[in-house]
Amino acid sequence: MRFHVLTLFPEMILAGMNTSIIGRAIEKKLLDIEAVNIRDYAFNKHQKVDDYTYGGGAGMLMQAEPVYLCWEAVCSRLPKPARTVYLTPQGRVFNQKLARELAEEEELVFLCGHYEGIDERVIEEIVTDPVSIGDYVLTGGELPAMVVMDAVARMVPGVLSNEASSESETFSDSHLLEYPQYSRPEVWHGKRVPEVLLSGHHQKVDAWRREQQIRRTFLYRPDLLHGADLTNKEWQMVREWKKEKRAAPEHEAETDGLLRNEDIKHEDI
Ligand code: ADE
Repeated sequence: MRFHVLTLFPEMILAGMNTSIIGRAIEKKLLDIEAVNIRDYAFNKHQKVDDYTYGGGAGMLMQAEPVYLCWEAVCSRLPKPARTVYLTPQGRVFNQKLARELAEEEELVFLCGHYEGIDERVIEEIVTDPVSIGDYVLTGGELPAMVVMDAVARMVPGVLSNEASSESETFSDSHLLEYPQYSRPEVWHGKRVPEVLLSGHHQKVDAWRREQQIRRTFLYRPDLLHGADLTNKEWQMVREWKKEKRAAPEHEAETDGLLRNEDIKHEDI
């Protein structure tokens, strides 16, 4: 798989992607990432890429022409037209489903904006997929592009070990959060590893993990439970927890030491 990133900060992309698992995949030639500097396509005296916005308003805008020339130069080298992903808070919200969809492509072009954004006319002309990584605003598209590339790259065969990749698939399809995990020592800061995990009884371990997944999803991401495939008995368990929760004053509600996501209401399930 090949990623082509159009950016004003190519060194940021290369520094971020050339490490750890993705860096190793690049070395193994499973992935190829090029970062192309949009400024190299600003054919004016000072290689200027930004200007004031028509109609007024704070900040500068990236101009259409250097972005277009950069995109055209990259695309002219590709064997066939590729999807162009523009990172923007206005885009389709990124998730595992979109990661899977993008992982089907041979080549992907990413366009990273800076300043107050990019002239709308070039966005209309070249972007096929406006993508947001969440409801918050960052200073540029480079970090979001790296988030998307990381999630897509780990689905490329050989990038992860087989064991890890199959595990991650079941996780994303189950719509449940991960169960808690523990390593040595058995007691740390006075906290014991749950007894069942030391029992060597695989069925009991699996049952405990499944219940933990449902419990955590109920507590922290109840909205995800809509898509989860639970048995009647498991739904019954969720209804019991819900009843208990209604009865318990908010400050006494169990949080497992983590903060509950305040944006998500239990009324959602
Ligand atoms: N650029 C700035 N903020 C962003 C976000 N949340 N997602 C994608 N691109 C962005």
